[in-house]
Amino acid sequence: MWYGSKVKNMDSFWEKYFSVYDILNKVYPYQDLLSDLIGDADIKVGERILDAGSGTGNLAIKLKQYSVNLVCVDNQVAAVNLHKVKDSTANVQIHNLTERLPFDDNYFDKIFCNNTFYTIEKQKRYQLVDEFYRVLKPGGALIISDPKVGFRPLKIYLRHIRDSVTKRGFAATVYDLFRMIIPTIQMFYYNAQIKKRDQTGRYNFIDNAEHERYFIKGMFELVAKKKTYAGEAILSKFIKTNYKWFKKNREILFVDINGKTKTGRITVKIPDSSFELSEMFRIRYEAYLRKKYIQPREDKLDTDYHDPLECVYFVAILEQKIIGSSRILFGRKLPIEKDYFEFSEPDALARIPQEAKTEIGRIVSFRPNYAIDLPPHLVLLILFYSMSVYGKGAGFIAGYGAIKETVKNKLEKFSFPIHPIENTKTIFDVSKTTDPLVSFFNNPNDPVCAVYYIRDELLSYFDELFGHIKPFNKEDIKFSVVTH
Ligand SMILES: C[S@@+](CC[C@H](N)C(=O)[O-])C[C@H]1O[C@@H](n2cnc3c(N)ncnc32)[C@H](O)[C@@H]1O
Repeated sequence: MWYGSKVKNMDSFWEKYFSVYDILNKVYPYQDLLSDLIGDADIKVGERILDAGSGTGNLAIKLKQYSVNLVCVDNQVAAVNLHKVKDSTANVQIHNLTERLPFDDNYFDKIFCNNTFYTIEKQKRYQLVDEFYRVLKPGGALIISDPKVGFRPLKIYLRHIRDSVTKRGFAATVYDLFRMIIPTIQMFYYNAQIKKRDQTGRYNFIDNAEHERYFIKGMFELVAKKKTYAGEAILSKFIKTNYKWFKKNREILFVDINGKTKTGRITVKIPDSSFELSEMFRIRYEAYLRKKYIQPREDKLDTDYHDPLECVYFVAILEQKIIGSSRILFGRKLPIEKDYFEFSEPDALARIPQEAKTEIGRIVSFRPNYAIDLPPHLVLLILFYSMSVYGKGAGFIAGYGAIKETVKNKLEKFSFPIHPIENTKTIFDVSKTTDPLVSFFNNPNDPVCAVYYIRDELLSYFDELFGHIKPFNKEDIKFSVVTH
């Protein structure tokens, strides 16, 4: 049953709209959508949760069953009234999502936003993303779903019929459809009216990549994404990363290259789309496979941790192609200390708090097909430099790395300030590990050694290096480094 008939004064448009809205509760793909939103959220008892654009409370009523501390906001009185008819204890506030949210900073553990973001005016969407960011705790999750471009409601109803026949049988399905037909037609009609009335361009469904960009630009990290609602909506889970500096500095460094016939610019940045990230994993896979560091894999990707609270990636880009990448792990006991080597911590690192220590790894450079012959190691050096600059902003002081002895020897020739850790013992158990880089770590002819670095030593080294630029000057090529 739906509750539209219980609300008095049904004369406004929105009242009419919401009085038929809950017909969706009878539609299986809508039920799947609500379950998918909750299923991926890892909800814990007592968490503070916001349902933004809660409508008639369909999702909220399900969320409450998890004994959470739920607050709902919606700007339509008619929707809020219906919600309260269905749940008299609902904590729901009338509030416009295009205005500052009435909550303290870092207040919520999770935010849900279902079928609402796309209805917000384009010019106000970034402001809402910033507000979500502000009221979420660091590490908190935003679980959001919106209809995709080319949304086909008919597909949802056809899927419903299929599921209903399977679950309830043919006769019950036909009976239900007769009962549903009038409110469903009314809802289609009202939706068409909403679109027609709208002068702001807000009821255009948002293209998948654009949707992702709103949140990634707003400093969220995408951690999961899937289709739902009979494939007609995209459900994404974003995490609020806890490094403010990260927000403003996704592009860290430019290196201008001036050759005789060609100029170019290498940009080092944090990948800002899932496409860029998987492109990086793909190129890394190819590089490692060539060197026989990893075994062939079906997905042809070298993926690893990718938990935004413990890891940040960097890519060097030239002419829109990734030509190098690296990774920093942080915020926990690092694999090199915990699983890979046994050593007593060097004095220089023993004083540094765990959260300020990092592990640099997966540094790879790919030879670009480029008219200017880039000196070997240039890309590696600028990646190191970018990570040091980033580390300064993010409060990382020092850290570890596991590098090939041959690379370490080369770096030492450049007087690169990297320090071998004495008396290390490899504890990496080849037979038990699931680490894809097992062959990297276990080749007696090409050993790996544990090293540490101090961020400020790296920064002074690079100041000197880029100050003189000499090592990078070939006969007719000039390299200049422009930071910002
Ligand atoms: C399609 S409904 C979705 C409702 C609910 N989340 C659900 O899944 O059933 C969109 C909701 O967003 C609300 N909404 C749209 N713009 C809003 C705004 N600027 N501020 C607050 N709520 C808004 C509408 O009132 C409506 O309840």
